[in-house]
Amino acid sequence: MNGIKIRGTGSCLPSRVLTNDDLARQVDTSDEWITARTGIRERRILTAETHSGLCAGAARTALDRAGLSPGDIGVCIVATMTPDAIIPSAACTMQTALGLPHDTLCFDLNAACSGFLYALHTVECLLAASPRKYGLVIGCDVLSRVVDWSDRSACILFGDGAGAAAVEWRAEWPSIGATLGCHGSNELLRCPGPGSTEEQYLSMEGQRVFKFALEAVPWCMDRTLERHGLTPADVDFFVFHQANARIIDLVAKKYRIPPEKYCKNIDRRGNTSAASIPIVLSEMEAAGRLQPGSRALLVGFGGGLTWGGALIEMA
Ligand code: UT7
Repeated sequence: MNGIKIRGTGSCLPSRVLTNDDLARQVDTSDEWITARTGIRERRILTAETHSGLCAGAARTALDRAGLSPGDIGVCIVATMTPDAIIPSAACTMQTALGLPHDTLCFDLNAACSGFLYALHTVECLLAASPRKYGLVIGCDVLSRVVDWSDRSACILFGDGAGAAAVEWRAEWPSIGATLGCHGSNELLRCPGPGSTEEQYLSMEGQRVFKFALEAVPWCMDRTLERHGLTPADVDFFVFHQANARIIDLVAKKYRIPPEKYCKNIDRRGNTSAASIPIVLSEMEAAGRLQPGSRALLVGFGGGLTWGGALIEMA
């Protein structure tokens, strides 16, 4: 028995709001189509801000709400696929920006939209061996940098932003019991890197990813609940990756989850990839919905393909 709980969360978003009507002036789409098919009404898009600036903003709020100082942090992981630079990593940039100790383990992790789940599991493992038992897990993506703004099937979906959780590890706490997985599918969701000769745009086979999500989310939920010996009724909140409101609603219907037990912010944020789950958590904490002892089942899925679930408690 040894695991993490969340002590505080934070988020940071670019100031520019891009509405569906703004997009309809750029590509052949409409507010009606986007709202009906995705639930998205607007999203935030990076202009003057930077990826590392968003990470630092979210992390500072998380530390503040957790009542922690940078000197308490033993591990800092940034889950991302769109950092400002490959080197230094976004997490190394946080060492300087936040004033983390020089022996804090700082690195980036890419598991696409499941990155926050992968990072929570990784931080739980690493804090067991760390002299300081607090960690920072930041999810940040600025997919506006890799979206083809003339491709209406992709550019309407994504928003930029960062979310963070300051976590604490204790030997007497149970593990979050993360259930993680991947399938190296090249076709469904791709974003070539700088070494590729392909165009550097994100591309997705939407319908097939939709079907994958409808299998992956219940799989993660069932395995995670099973691992903890719990049923959905034992969980206070369900926080799903915000990829499409229809996916969330279908899963909520399947498990008969009442509306007060799950949270959707995709209407205002779009799909923010690795940031989506911690941004939801941060907005829930700001609204007073997360209290000490609140138990949340988190489920992510995305490129890779990757997927993951975990049950986490507020300290
Ligand atoms: O975070 C990573 C994980 N990502 C996801 O989970 C995304 C999962 N997929 C989805 O959310 C949905 O598949 C989309 C929202 C991407 C697309 O919705 P859809 O209901 O699956 O639409 P579709 O791709 O089947 O396209 C239906 C029609 C097509 O036209 P035709 O061939 O029927 O004439 C598209 O060309 O809608 C057209 N279309 C659009 N029309 C207006 C595609 N994009 C747009 C658009 N505006 N933006």
